[in-house]
Amino acid sequence: MTARPAYDDFAAIYDAWVDGVAAADEMRSFYVELLLAAADGPVVELGVGNGRICIEAARRGRRVIGVDSSAAILELCRRRADEAGVADRLELIAADFRDFELEQPASLVVIPFHSIGHLPTDEEKLRCMARIHSQLAPGGRFVWDHFIFDSDYPTTPGTLNLRADVRDADGRGRLVWELSTRDAERRMIDILVRIEEVDATGAVEATRYVRMEMSWIAPERSRELLERAGFEIEALYGDFRRGPFEDGASHQVWCARRSG
Ligand SMILES: C[S@@+](CC[C@H](N)C(=O)[O-])C[C@H]1O[C@@H](n2cnc3c(N)ncnc32)[C@H](O)[C@@H]1O
Repeated sequence: MTARPAYDDFAAIYDAWVDGVAAADEMRSFYVELLLAAADGPVVELGVGNGRICIEAARRGRRVIGVDSSAAILELCRRRADEAGVADRLELIAADFRDFELEQPASLVVIPFHSIGHLPTDEEKLRCMARIHSQLAPGGRFVWDHFIFDSDYPTTPGTLNLRADVRDADGRGRLVWELSTRDAERRMIDILVRIEEVDATGAVEATRYVRMEMSWIAPERSRELLERAGFEIEALYGDFRRGPFEDGASHQVWCARRSG
């Protein structure tokens, strides 16, 4: 039996979830510019989420193929593309990062927003990179990012953080709480999310819990996996403004190329 993708439960709170991430806007501009500047040929975003990146690129004239394993997320992305009037520039495919298949080799494949961390092990990440390599045209590019792991991250459940408070003028809406714990041995962060539906009087009408895991990877290991998958590394940045990768960098942003 295939497990239900964790993101099926995130579709309803996706916008609020993303708004809570400091680098979200810079990251979006970085990837939209890349998609727009890519050479001729299909460009692909793996893990489209609510479509905030691919829809913006489509709005600015680029056709994009979006791949995601969550049916609810694809539905959300499709609805937002319709509202933006760009549905005809997006091709959405329900598939896994590790075995998606394109009709034509791509000129660019991106995996934005730490999404590679949804693949739990280095072996799975390597499998995904090898798959991407096989779906790129010679000279095609692969760009992705992940956060740099902060070793101060708690190993025991800590404080519940309020991640988002989305309420209308009447006070009705939703509170999204997050509690994350790291498992150093497995290099995983366990993320428990509590969603409270609140009525106009402030009373909680319903509470739901959603859980997901996110793995991390050290930059030296990322480099090794990229090279093993057959990529040539063009650049490693420390943020989405293309700043150098150095001590204290918040991110690893990799730009790689399929050489042959
Ligand atoms: C962090 S979110 C998406 C981010 C989106 N690119 C953005 O910048 O807002 C990760 C997305 O990857 C999808 N996803 C996670 N694991 C996947 C897998 N193995 N194959 C395909 N999609 C996956 C999730 O359903 C989710 O939509």
